[in-house]
Amino acid sequence: MNQKPNQRLKGQTCIVTGGSSGIGLAIAKSIGMEGANVVINYYSDKESAEKVAKEIEGMSECGSAIIHQTDVSKEKQVVGMFKKAIKKFGTVDILINNAGIQMDAPFHEMTLDQWQRVIDINLTGQFLCAREAIKEFKKRGMRPKVSNALGKIIHISSVHEVIPWAGHVNYAAAKGAIVMLMQSLAQEYGREKIRVNSIAPGAIRTPINEDVWGSKKGMKKLKKLIPYNRIGEPADIGSVAAWLASDESDYITGTSIFVDGGMTCYPGFTENG
Ligand code: BGC
Repeated sequence: MNQKPNQRLKGQTCIVTGGSSGIGLAIAKSIGMEGANVVINYYSDKESAEKVAKEIEGMSECGSAIIHQTDVSKEKQVVGMFKKAIKKFGTVDILINNAGIQMDAPFHEMTLDQWQRVIDINLTGQFLCAREAIKEFKKRGMRPKVSNALGKIIHISSVHEVIPWAGHVNYAAAKGAIVMLMQSLAQEYGREKIRVNSIAPGAIRTPINEDVWGSKKGMKKLKKLIPYNRIGEPADIGSVAAWLASDESDYITGTSIFVDGGMTCYPGFTENG
């Protein structure tokens, strides 16, 4: 991990959805290392969520961490999560809209349930959490000693917000929509000093794509798609998220930051075309 323990988010509170595994877990730790309080949202893996919370609390100069079970696609549950975070820590300053799933199928065989569940979690979940975050930012008002911004929202998108993805149409459709969700929010709330951005990860070593990187053959094929010639690690995303949530990136809003080892540089054209 390139990140050094720092205090760039001291006195702030952050909700990380899907914080019990993969990219969300790494972001929760990175944000905790910056001195923020962290609410680790999870859906099913309570044990892992508890482990992450303990780890954060065990690090020196880190904020507090609590866990909270929520299905991010359910309005009442999302409202309840924000209520709990505000009751415990006073407010919410940062939202990491990370929870996401894949339910892959050839398009002609995709069930309505596979389509709907992915849209519900990966898109509607981000809408519901962003709405509650913005409500809280506006209600709380500026705290100039804590941050230049009224609040920060980071959507975790994917390279598939621009790279079409056969066999994963539900996922790519949701990620493509996040671009407009993110940019429209940045446009709507910029004047109120709310920063809204996305991180678009490429292939990162997490459970979601273990079927690909888990075998030698799969990894070899995958690396052909990555000019930098290595798979990404969750901490590669964590350190960018911590920076993007901090005042060091204060002039950045309405942007997707691709953290993908060059996957979006059309590596298939290196020797062809
Ligand atoms: C997907 C991964 C995939 C990566 C690159 C991500 O958004 O969740 O399964 O490996 O994009 O294709």
